Amino acid sequence: MRRSPERVLWIHRARRIGKSGKVRRLGQSHCIQTASDTCNARLFQPGLAPGGGRNRRFVRGVPTKITLTTTSRMAILNTDGKAVTLAFSVASNCSLMHPSSFENMQKCYDRYLAARSVEQDCRLTVVEVGSADVNGSYRAIFPNQTFHYVGCNRVLGPGVDLVLDDPYRLPVPDAYAHVVISGQVLEQCEFFWLAFGEMLRILKPDGYLFLIAPSSGPIHCYPVDCYRFYPDAFRALAKYTGCRLVDLWNDDRGPWNDLVGVFRHAEAPLPSAVEIADNLAAARRSYQSRVVANRGINLKQLGEIPTEAEVTKGAASYLTVLQRLHEALDPRLYLEIGVRRGRSLALARGSAVGVDPAPELTASLSAATILFSETSDDFFDHNAGSALGGGVDLAFIDGMHRSENVLRDIMGVERHARPSALLAIDDVFPNHPLQAERCRRTSAWCGDVWKIIGCLERYRPDLLLLRLDVAPAGLLLVSGFEPAHRGLRNLYNPIARSLAVPASPVVPAEILAREGALSPDDPRISSLLALLRELVGNGANHSTVGARLRYWRKAHSL
Ligand SMILES: C[S@@+](CC[C@H](N)C(=O)[O-])C[C@H]1O[C@@H](n2cnc3c(N)ncnc32)[C@H](O)[C@@H]1O
Repeated sequence: MRRSPERVLWIHRARRIGKSGKVRRLGQSHCIQTASDTCNARLFQPGLAPGGGRNRRFVRGVPTKITLTTTSRMAILNTDGKAVTLAFSVASNCSLMHPSSFENMQKCYDRYLAARSVEQDCRLTVVEVGSADVNGSYRAIFPNQTFHYVGCNRVLGPGVDLVLDDPYRLPVPDAYAHVVISGQVLEQCEFFWLAFGEMLRILKPDGYLFLIAPSSGPIHCYPVDCYRFYPDAFRALAKYTGCRLVDLWNDDRGPWNDLVGVFRHAEAPLPSAVEIADNLAAARRSYQSRVVANRGINLKQLGEIPTEAEVTKGAASYLTVLQRLHEALDPRLYLEIGVRRGRSLALARGSAVGVDPAPELTASLSAATILFSETSDDFFDHNAGSALGGGVDLAFIDGMHRSENVLRDIMGVERHARPSALLAIDDVFPNHPLQAERCRRTSAWCGDVWKIIGCLERYRPDLLLLRLDVAPAGLLLVSGFEPAHRGLRNLYNPIARSLAVPASPVVPAEILAREGALSPDDPRISSLLALLRELVGNGANHSTVGARLRYWRKAHSL
């Protein structure tokens, strides 16, 4: 076992850089191999942040020495006396995290661990196998006050506490860990059954093993990519080792389609329904407290916010426009995500479903309204099937103002959309860049919901999109859904990753200027509503609705 006190890795005797053995040019990706390590690297000019390639220069030369500083993910490469910077990703049985994998690990935690609490001196040990933080880490899921987190990996890198000399030998005693976790590693293990057996060896008799592996997706060699796993593979592993497979699901979001397994030793009991309900309730409370804290945020303490950062504009209120939608469509079922005080949900005249993890109802709702006090993700996972039965005619998304949450909400709505369904998405037009920050800094907060417009234009050109210039921060109307459409699901991970970029670009001028937005009184809006109403009346199916919407779009030059 080697410990990694100072996260600095020296690579000597680099054998190969790129195909030719020479550094070719800045910005290119290279595979660097040494006697014991492999890493992928991209070259950048000194002082330039990775990706900031505006002034890229071409540099020729052969490296003599490479120093990788794992904390900064940068390396200095001496080429002919010139220093250039390398942004690198260490790659050797490490976890290449994608958004759905993080979400699935969070689900394992919420379902099986969230209610655990301990004294500081008897924290529970979590061992992650393949912990190098290349594209994110599960570490944030396990709170420090309850869990002592130990990251193991073949090579040193960010997130690595123990470096493995032998990938099939974890350097800790039997029954060491209360929880063992691993994601995106098994497919890179030539002898994955040995790796699995080793994870069970270090698991305590009543511990949990959470395992995530892709059942699909492109080849990604870090340094090898041997397998994909289907549900029977995890059943077979449980049979082979004589352990219990407690839970198993196959996420249908691509391109990886994560297979998720929860394992225990054979002698450990199956968790009871009460235990699971307690855990889920604790997870819900924790999310609620974050939502409530975000509401009560003392915005002044976050620094000087210029007064213009709080401006709002729009020819009519979103509530007025929503009311018109209700009146024109008279939906058989209305779905609202993000209810808060119930002002928009109270507009529903017939059957309605509201979803909010922390509602603070002040408006009175119709007797035909059902409220689910949970996140929209939980709602779509557990309750949407029964609550939305025959399908949704009108939906309003106004929940968590992060673009990846809105993306998932749209995917959820689409699964339950009737052919002529109409969706309204709030807050697509921030009035000031500070309103568009992913972490709230203003009272008029839109988050980065605006990114959804470009995302749908790019990945779902078949949908009809209408931007509306309403107060306080615009609305986007979407129609033409196909519940079986896989356009967003198949590409969920790359889309969600691109949406969630923390240093998001400044809000484009055309979004701030509300380019292409229709006035709420534009006759095309009532024309669309009349068409949708007619299609509902005719019982039109998805393909008829699609064809009629395409024709309508052409006729109105949209
Ligand atoms: C802007 S308020 C909704 C206002 C309401 N639609 C109206 O117009 O009166 C946003 C709401 O989203 C809720 N929310 C936060 N995270 C959520 C999530 N993951 N799923 C659903 N709702 C969420 C918050 O609790 C908050 O009440």
